[in-house]
Amino acid sequence: MIDMSLLQPVQRYWDWRAESFDATSCRHEPWVEIFAGAVDLPPGSRVLDAGTGTGFLALGLANKGFIVAGIDISVNMLDIAGKKARDMGLDIDFLRSGADDPPFAQGSFDAVVARNLLWTLKYPQETLKNWAGLLRAGGRVVISDGIWRPVSPLQKAFDRAREFLQRFKENRLLHPEVFKRMYCEVDPDLPFGRGLSVVQAEKLLTGCGFVNLKRHEHEFPENPYTVQGELFPGYGCFFILSAVKA
Ligand SMILES: C[S@@+](CC[C@H](N)C(=O)[O-])C[C@H]1O[C@@H](n2cnc3c(N)ncnc32)[C@H](O)[C@@H]1O
Repeated sequence: MIDMSLLQPVQRYWDWRAESFDATSCRHEPWVEIFAGAVDLPPGSRVLDAGTGTGFLALGLANKGFIVAGIDISVNMLDIAGKKARDMGLDIDFLRSGADDPPFAQGSFDAVVARNLLWTLKYPQETLKNWAGLLRAGGRVVISDGIWRPVSPLQKAFDRAREFLQRFKENRLLHPEVFKRMYCEVDPDLPFGRGLSVVQAEKLLTGCGFVNLKRHEHEFPENPYTVQGELFPGYGCFFILSAVKA
């Protein structure tokens, strides 16, 4: 059983962030297409979107005919996701739950997807093992993540200057600042708090017995994230990785 005490500050941040999340999250058109292609299963397959947030993937996949459940620890994020589903006439089972050990029967899903969740988990390896348990044999996991926060002093200075200018321009509290304040409590406990590389993700997946690993980020015509990746190689890098439960 995973210790969930860490979830409180994380939930507090995402509850705060919910209102502004859609305006600042990466919602380019090909995401859903690429995830659906990476899931590589027919419509009607059962998909769990872990850390669904405001439901971006859950809604997109349900719209394509998948039977979708979405879990998240943030009530405010889920409220937005639920409202969107109702507005779109989509039947999605949104549930407040930690993604680390979701409360579903073993083998009850054909696929688990997660976009930008792994970096904020205290126990990513155990979590992926638990997801493997939720999948039927031959089921898929599709995860996307990347390197999100600078590591070198030069990158950090660049980031601070950029945030300062943005704050000055917009004259309001911006989410990177609030993030730092709220996440500092949990940061030391997150093995990938600054993000993770595709190689690290591959290691996690193979460590949990997943096979047939495949990368999909090259299916984007261009990097959908910031220009920072071009300025600082490695920073702003992201990946989409699919794998099969043996
Ligand atoms: C960066 S957002 C990504 C949201 C969504 N997947 C997307 O791509 O738009 C991370 C989400 O994970 C949720 N989250 C963080 N830690 C979690 C955990 N341990 N269990 C469930 N949800 C979690 C947050 O509440 C937030 O909604």
